[in-house]
Amino acid sequence: MAATNLSQHLNPVDQYQRPLRDLRISVTDRCNFRCPYCMPAEVYGERYKFLPRAEILTFEEITRFTRLFTSLGVSKIRLTGGEPLIRADLSQLIGMLSAIPEVEDLTLTTNGYLLEKFADQLVDAGLRRITVSLDSLDEDVYKEMNGRNFGTENVLKGIAAAEKAGLSPIKINAVVEKGVNDHTLVDLAKHFKGSGHILRFIEFMDVGNLNGWNMDKVVPAKDIISAISAELPLEPVDPNYLGEVARRWRYADGEGEIGVITSVTEPFCGDCTRARLSTDGKLVTCLFAEDGTDLRGPMRSGASDEELLDLISGTWRGRDDQYSVERTAMLKSGIERPAKKIEMYQIGG
Ligand code: GTP
Ligand code: 5AD
Ligand code: SF4
Ligand code: SF4
Repeated sequence: MAATNLSQHLNPVDQYQRPLRDLRISVTDRCNFRCPYCMPAEVYGERYKFLPRAEILTFEEITRFTRLFTSLGVSKIRLTGGEPLIRADLSQLIGMLSAIPEVEDLTLTTNGYLLEKFADQLVDAGLRRITVSLDSLDEDVYKEMNGRNFGTENVLKGIAAAEKAGLSPIKINAVVEKGVNDHTLVDLAKHFKGSGHILRFIEFMDVGNLNGWNMDKVVPAKDIISAISAELPLEPVDPNYLGEVARRWRYADGEGEIGVITSVTEPFCGDCTRARLSTDGKLVTCLFAEDGTDLRGPMRSGASDEELLDLISGTWRGRDDQYSVERTAMLKSGIERPAKKIEMYQIGG
């Protein structure tokens, strides 16, 4: 990398003065689940054409992009999908990324189904912590929410294996949908209270175009907290760092903490420092964007590090996304929301 020109790219800020700190990388657009809020089975059936191999970034390409992003100020990397553990040899990629000194935090979001098998090798490759999605412990509810009739057993075994392998902290993500799993949240909280794992409830979001979202299906985080606190008293905790996505609460009896992700009722765009790299190499500057900037094309046609840094920092400088804030305004005034958003499995959560 030509050191002479590097300083001009360092620490770009966007139109709202937000720096670039986190990169979320989708390593596959495929998934072994069909959660109706993300990849409804009616749409993503047997014949659905996922990306052909040639369009997916290789590990070498992902590693080169990661180095470039870290030279712009990124220190936190999250691998997502689709389901990242179905990408062949993922541990190899973990090894390549964990060897980059500027990567201070390397983590992974998984549905946990294959975690038991991979936990040890992920740790050996350099992974330190993990987030596992688990929307309910009620078997019927869970089966409905993963769209594949899978029970919770594999995921619970995966969480146990992650703990045994030394991944810490382990975070558990539960998307909350009114009338679907909201009656099972207190059980989930009871199960993980005292375990050392951090359970986070996520307000159901209008990501993508296919999940039939409307405001009536959202349980506001304040209602989630009241419901839990009525049985297991909670008190608020300060954020770990500016821009943390989850609002933190701890059990008054000292038995750990939980979080709520309030993207709908209390948007946190003002502090959003996250970029996303899609499976096919687009730089996407918001979870709700309609498209991204192609980085794979230029890389494959021989662009230099300098040219790629120009493209990345230029895209970030032009960024003015704040969809969740705008959503509130659009809903209030009855303005139609965009109908061509990127789907979540293409860019990760
Ligand atoms: P850590 O605090 O690093 O553990 O991670 P995180 O809170 O970013 O966690 P995770 O990646 O598990 O994301 C949790 C939920 O928050 C997912 O449903 C994400 O889609 C959502 N989320 C993460 N980042 C954003 C964001 O920038 N905007 C919105 N609207 N939602 C986000
Ligand atoms: N709303 C909220 N969270 C979602 N996730 C996937 N789709 C949605 C949605 N529509 C969650 C996944 C995972 C995380 C990355 O995002 O369950 O925990
Ligand atoms: Fe797969 Fe995660 Fe989407 Fe569910 S939410 S279909 S587990 S990528
Ligand atoms: Fe960031 Fe977009 Fe999420 Fe707002 S809606 S926090 S800008 S990713």
